[in-house]
Amino acid sequence: MTRTSTKGLGALTPLRDHGAPMYLQLYHHVRDAIAAGRLNPGDRVPSVRALSSETGLARGTVEMAFQVLVSEGYLLTRGAAGTVVAPGLGTLSESVPPVSTSPATERGPATAFAETGMAPFQLGLPALDAFPRKTWARLCGRHQRNLHTSAMTYPDPSGHEPLRRAIATYLGISRGIACTHEQVFVTTGYRGALDLVRRTLLSAGDTGWYEDPGYLLARIFLERAGFRLAPVPVDDDGLVVEEGVRRAGNARFAVVTPTHQSPMGMALSLPRRLELLDWASQRKAWIIEDDYDSEFRYHGRPLPALKSLDHDDRVLYTGTFSKVLIPGLRLAYLVVPASLVGTFKDEVTHLSGPGSIVPQAMITDFMAQGHFSRHLRKMRTLYAARRGYVVDALAEVLGDRLYVQPQAGGIHILAHLKGRESDRRLTAAAAAKGMAIRALSDWRVGKAAHGGLLLGFANFMHADAAAEAVRRLREIWPAR
Ligand SMILES: Cc1ncc(COP(=O)(O)O)c(C=O)c1O
Repeated sequence: MTRTSTKGLGALTPLRDHGAPMYLQLYHHVRDAIAAGRLNPGDRVPSVRALSSETGLARGTVEMAFQVLVSEGYLLTRGAAGTVVAPGLGTLSESVPPVSTSPATERGPATAFAETGMAPFQLGLPALDAFPRKTWARLCGRHQRNLHTSAMTYPDPSGHEPLRRAIATYLGISRGIACTHEQVFVTTGYRGALDLVRRTLLSAGDTGWYEDPGYLLARIFLERAGFRLAPVPVDDDGLVVEEGVRRAGNARFAVVTPTHQSPMGMALSLPRRLELLDWASQRKAWIIEDDYDSEFRYHGRPLPALKSLDHDDRVLYTGTFSKVLIPGLRLAYLVVPASLVGTFKDEVTHLSGPGSIVPQAMITDFMAQGHFSRHLRKMRTLYAARRGYVVDALAEVLGDRLYVQPQAGGIHILAHLKGRESDRRLTAAAAAKGMAIRALSDWRVGKAAHGGLLLGFANFMHADAAAEAVRRLREIWPAR
């Protein structure tokens, strides 16, 4: 007979260790109970509702812990029959160490990540485990079931109007941008926004400023589109505008990441912002503002978007749902000056637009129902903790080889090499071990004396997983 065991779980007040997220603490608690034999294969565990009321934890937190335990094979859900400790765990439980080892540690970070289709340190990915799947699935079910006729006909190539309205409101509140929904165009990712600007305002052969170092994929896109890119260096204040003017004062456009320079992480200072806007106004050049991850900031307050200072309508603002939600949606947006709405509308009319309105309608509901702001709040705390796991492990295990540049935000870490070794060679060695770090040199046009490594931290669910991955990373350095 199946036994329901709350007793086996022991004291259910999770410890607040190392600021680890509560769902992870609960995850460990259950796992340790299995390892210690307090919970046995086949034992029924309490329902989410019961555990939630017993622990005082939010149901979503308990659900998240359960999701991880189920996905890793510790628990088995059996519909109405409840959730049980997986029957096949007899032998495994004997080999599970009782405390604070994460599942990633046990099987090696590369293996654990591989099961999710991600590689350790993979850049650009948000924390996929923390995405509110249930809420998303509910919204998806509703929209698919109702299949509104507007979802069956040709969608507006500018994007779903309610989403454009929601974006305009969000940008007004959170980024200081005053715009109407007419100015907002939903695009297929950031490169969809770049493409729209390219088609509407630029011509092949035009020269554009490009931050050096800067976002590699944008560079490749722009070069393939036939633009001449003038690399402009960045320093502690961001883009060195004066140098841009010296190198290519007549450029037609500049692509910049003012909030959180990609990949260096500094913000474009206010004097530089004014200088850049001034240059664009005088030269009638366009500034493409890439505000890709401004939502995640861990120290201080972010500066409002550059666009908020744009009194002369020179800035084309872009944001993306790839970091704040998931990149699989492939949805981003472009805000154009009011005076250009007609020109852009005319261009998008002859393009296929960002696709079905269903995902766009889901994002609209997600924002309107308050899930979006809740999710962002949660992710800021989660990322601050996860960033800490990787930074601490790097300092402890690789402190003699590299140092981490402090960054106020974002979901990646830039680690500068202390020695003269090639960052490209190191990333190739890491790739051979299944790890997806990237070389700062690939982001640069010019040369630098020291290389750097770009590391994503968002998917390290626990300090142990980060420490284990960093220990493996150490193996890519030749022994001294
Ligand atoms: C600098 C930068 N800009 C923009 C983006 C967003 O690109 P997309 O919307 O295509 O996911 C990213 C994604 O990693 C990025 O790193």
